[in-house]
Amino acid sequence: MGGERQRGEGRASGKLILLGEHAVVYGVPALAVGISRGLEARAWRVAARAERSAAPDARPGLDVIGRHTSEDATLAAAYAALLAAGEPVAGDDLAVRVHGDLTPGVGLGFSAAAAVAIARAVESLVHGGAAVPAVQARAMAWERVFHGNPSGVDTAAALLGGCIRYTRAEGPRPFDPPACFELCVGFTGTAASTAAMVARVAELRNAEPARFEAELAEVGGLVAQAIAALERSELARLGALLDRNQGLLAGWGVSTDAIDVLCRTARAAGALGAKLSGSGGGGVVVALVGPGGDDGRAATRVLEAWRRLGFGGFRTAVGAGVAEAKE
Ligand code: MEV
Repeated sequence: MGGERQRGEGRASGKLILLGEHAVVYGVPALAVGISRGLEARAWRVAARAERSAAPDARPGLDVIGRHTSEDATLAAAYAALLAAGEPVAGDDLAVRVHGDLTPGVGLGFSAAAAVAIARAVESLVHGGAAVPAVQARAMAWERVFHGNPSGVDTAAALLGGCIRYTRAEGPRPFDPPACFELCVGFTGTAASTAAMVARVAELRNAEPARFEAELAEVGGLVAQAIAALERSELARLGALLDRNQGLLAGWGVSTDAIDVLCRTARAAGALGAKLSGSGGGGVVVALVGPGGDDGRAATRVLEAWRRLGFGGFRTAVGAGVAEAKE
């Protein structure tokens, strides 16, 4: 295997934002959860060019589920920024491969999970361990190439998993709800660029600053109430807060017909609340279906109702000691 030596490995979770996407860009808190779907990265040194075999594994550079830096300029720029952040790492003889079960471009935090997994693998290879500040600095450098002005919530969720409250000023604050709860994730079938959706919200902010400020404050209140509801296991209350946040996001122009249909269908099938999750404009919807431990009946009803309309989805439980259940 010409020249393969030590390896570094890293994993990171995908994420769902339960409340506060877009508002978080302007300093308001968001509530996010890590999910068990995620990405894994391997990093290793390859032999000098002359000794290299033709094997794909001997090719330096980054490959993210079949997209290689040699063929993708944005990916190459993001990878270069990640390697250059903090204590720079030379990439000439470095090979990194990413694989996993996270769908890209739909609001599940693919880009941040890739960044964190790669940063962990590179740090482990070079330093024998992956300190959080170093991983975070590398991941944020990557995210800035893809998203311009990321709030950091996706990176924090990918790094920490579990439930987090996040603000730009204070960073992540993990918390543990006393009981687990179940979510359904529905795919609209279309992707949207996070940067484009963030720009759309910025236009609205410029056009209607007073309204936007008032709604930002409202989102901050929704997030505080949602954390309190989770801490008291008041899931019906949490569902109502999700619905209100969806109403505000629709008013900011980031919902779509498919998102509206998925939300309405989920509520009609028994979900306690539903909204887009992530940047919107397509991507995924998250529906709160209830506490864990009811054998997934509520989740099954929601997923079946979506499937009848041609939308795919999966369910995931959040909280201590739960594993994702796929449909
Ligand atoms: C994207 O997952 C979340 C946004 O709020 C952008 C960000 O926080 O950087 C839309």
